Amino acid sequence: MRRRRALLFLPGDSERKIAKAITLEVDAVVLDLEDGVALGQKEMARALVRRALETFDFGPRERIVRLNAVGSGLEDADLAATLPGRPDAYLLPKVSDPAAIAWLDAALTAAEAHYGWPPGCIRILALIETALGVVNLREIARVGGRLEALLFGAEDLIGDIGGVRTAAGHEVLYARSAVVTTAAAFGLAAIDMVFVALDDLEGLARECREAVELGYQGKMAIHPRQVPIIQAAFTPTTAQVDAARRLIDAYREHERHGVGVFVLDGKMVDAPMLAAARRVLIRAGLNPDIN
Ligand code: COA
Ligand code: MG
Repeated sequence: MRRRRALLFLPGDSERKIAKAITLEVDAVVLDLEDGVALGQKEMARALVRRALETFDFGPRERIVRLNAVGSGLEDADLAATLPGRPDAYLLPKVSDPAAIAWLDAALTAAEAHYGWPPGCIRILALIETALGVVNLREIARVGGRLEALLFGAEDLIGDIGGVRTAAGHEVLYARSAVVTTAAAFGLAAIDMVFVALDDLEGLARECREAVELGYQGKMAIHPRQVPIIQAAFTPTTAQVDAARRLIDAYREHERHGVGVFVLDGKMVDAPMLAAARRVLIRAGLNPDIN
């Protein structure tokens, strides 16, 4: 599956920010038509996003468009205006049930047939940020097909639940864990929440480490200065890659002799550690089978 470490959001009505984003070392750029764009600017943003998709060089960066939520009354026009630019993926916000994804899936299937694009070429990412979305996670995650990733949105969720956002984040731990666990269960990628304190880069790095520990593969970014920190946090270090390789080598060597559990550097190693080591190599962009 493709790497999505940092996903940089920018308001779809800002040509300056789009131009900036495509100069950054970032895996994915999210051209936003939803919360980042005022109601009076939606029309202009749709036209700009389409033009950017058609004429700007995004290089290897994934081109993602965030639609307004299904049921907002804006989603049809968002989709119609931006489809001709053939984005790599659409991000659906406030996904509360599988019907929202089914609507987008059907519209994309029709568009691909209309334009003669390969069936299924446009992917779907779903933002889980409502109480109902958390409760319905399993039904949402199992839709299959073009759904590739679940993103966790903390700010909207806490607005919906009525809690209070804190630095420690206990108020979102259940949902944050549920999203990454459900994603793993259904073979989807999981992308962690936005960090809104733009000047607190230490806090951002800490929150990235937590996300890696929880099992997330990437995190949303909202400012260029967050991008290098996030990209690095979700890239294993050379030391981690070396340790993973050593563990895999040792495991294979023991396996050849019929031994499934052994001690390496004072720690027990068995099958789950092998799986974890393989994941480190995958996150580093390496093939764990060519070790
Ligand atoms: N993507 C690309 N470029 C961005 C950017 C973003 N998300 N945020 C800021 N920049 C650019 C600015 O345009 C500026 O470039 P310039 O020097 O060429 O003018 C530079 O980075 C520095 O920006 P700065 O002045 O520090 O930020 P700001 O005060 O202009 O903007 C925000 C602050 C929060 C409004 C802005 O970062 C932003 O729009 N973030 C995305 C918000 C969003 O999409 N929210 C919805 C999803 S949660
Ligand atoms: Mg929102």
